Amino acid sequence: MSALREQLARELEAARQRTLLLTDHDDPDLLRQHSPLMSPLVWDLAHVGQQEDLWLLRRGDGRRPGLLPPSVEALYDAFTHPRAVRDRLPLLPPVEARAFCREVRGRVLDRLDSFGADDDPFDVAMVVSHEQQHDETMLQTLQLRVGPPLLGEGTPLPPGRPGVAGTSVLVPGGPFVLGVDADDEPFSLDNERPAHVVDVPAFRIGRVPVTNAEYAAFVADGGYDTPRWWSGRGWAHRQEAGPQRPQYWSPDGTVRTRFGVLEQLPPDEPVQHVTFFEAEAYAAWAGARLPTEAEWEKAAVWDPATGRRRRWPWGSADPSPALANLGGTALRPAPVGAYPAGASAYGAEQMVGDVWEWTSSGFRPWPGFTPMLYADYSAPFFGGDHRVLRGGAWSVAPSILRPSFRNWDHPVRRQVFSGFRLAWSVDEPGA
Ligand SMILES: [Fe+2]
Repeated sequence: MSALREQLARELEAARQRTLLLTDHDDPDLLRQHSPLMSPLVWDLAHVGQQEDLWLLRRGDGRRPGLLPPSVEALYDAFTHPRAVRDRLPLLPPVEARAFCREVRGRVLDRLDSFGADDDPFDVAMVVSHEQQHDETMLQTLQLRVGPPLLGEGTPLPPGRPGVAGTSVLVPGGPFVLGVDADDEPFSLDNERPAHVVDVPAFRIGRVPVTNAEYAAFVADGGYDTPRWWSGRGWAHRQEAGPQRPQYWSPDGTVRTRFGVLEQLPPDEPVQHVTFFEAEAYAAWAGARLPTEAEWEKAAVWDPATGRRRRWPWGSADPSPALANLGGTALRPAPVGAYPAGASAYGAEQMVGDVWEWTSSGFRPWPGFTPMLYADYSAPFFGGDHRVLRGGAWSVAPSILRPSFRNWDHPVRRQVFSGFRLAWSVDEPGA
């Protein structure tokens, strides 16, 4: 238990360092509502501490007193206050929010010191995941923010490889194991479990995600003005909200803004900031479709040679900068072909990291679903108007990601670091 305790303490610390870095800005930037879609950064900051207090110091029992007075704690209930109005709440000022988070963390670490049989390491991992997910949310807010750049250049990434964009790999038909169990992935969240066998007919899937250059051809071909490529709902949204290109692209499609920096559109980088409806329309234009969740996961982790799942697409080694773009420091996806060593058994690359990939699947429980301590994490969203995104983006911490990780959002959202890859049905294995 001691080595595990140390590991969890390190992961708590890593998440906190990241949170503090992403909120190390002047107060007006922390207090401002940069977009109705996102909370003011100072809300995320104190909410991270409030959730840690609730789950780790009170084991989820909100009737027990926490470190904040009840009226203040209530401000950080995500289900009560919509994001768009959070700047009007009497939130803790940044200096008090930081002090509160520090106080909670001190008590949590004290408690970890005497970690016993009654304490579940899963709960600590869940809180790490929660904080890291809010760190990604804060990156979305910082991308929406208008003003001089705050985040610098980002760390360098490996170069891409020519010739991989637009190519695909075959995944022969047959059963595979979808999802994971606690025995293999003790920190997997409730919606990833349990592991179960699913039969998936043969399909092809993009070797890499769709690139900016490929997507620009759809825009140039009048894709946004051609209803036949869009689903009924997608076209309704196209007319109502009026998107004409991915978010942050200039009208002529040559430059984009990235965290306040204007740059030439990198042609071989996966397209980012598209809605599910845009991804779906592009796929129709390209004579393809989006993969289902089951197809995506099979292409990512199934090893037909052993008849078993791999822990990661490339095998069992932990993610590293040579295998995938994760962790949030690059501030961007890597060009396609940057990670040949990260390929799955079927040859699909960049399944993990770079961009979240829209799938055609709604968010549903796997058969035998059981909610975790944070029971409202997944269950309230099952069957709603969401589509599942897979694989994690450059913005995701590797410690909380697994190929079984499921993200979900409304099909009209694109502040997410969202892209996609194509899929095609095939009639015959080997076709
Ligand atoms: Fe949260």
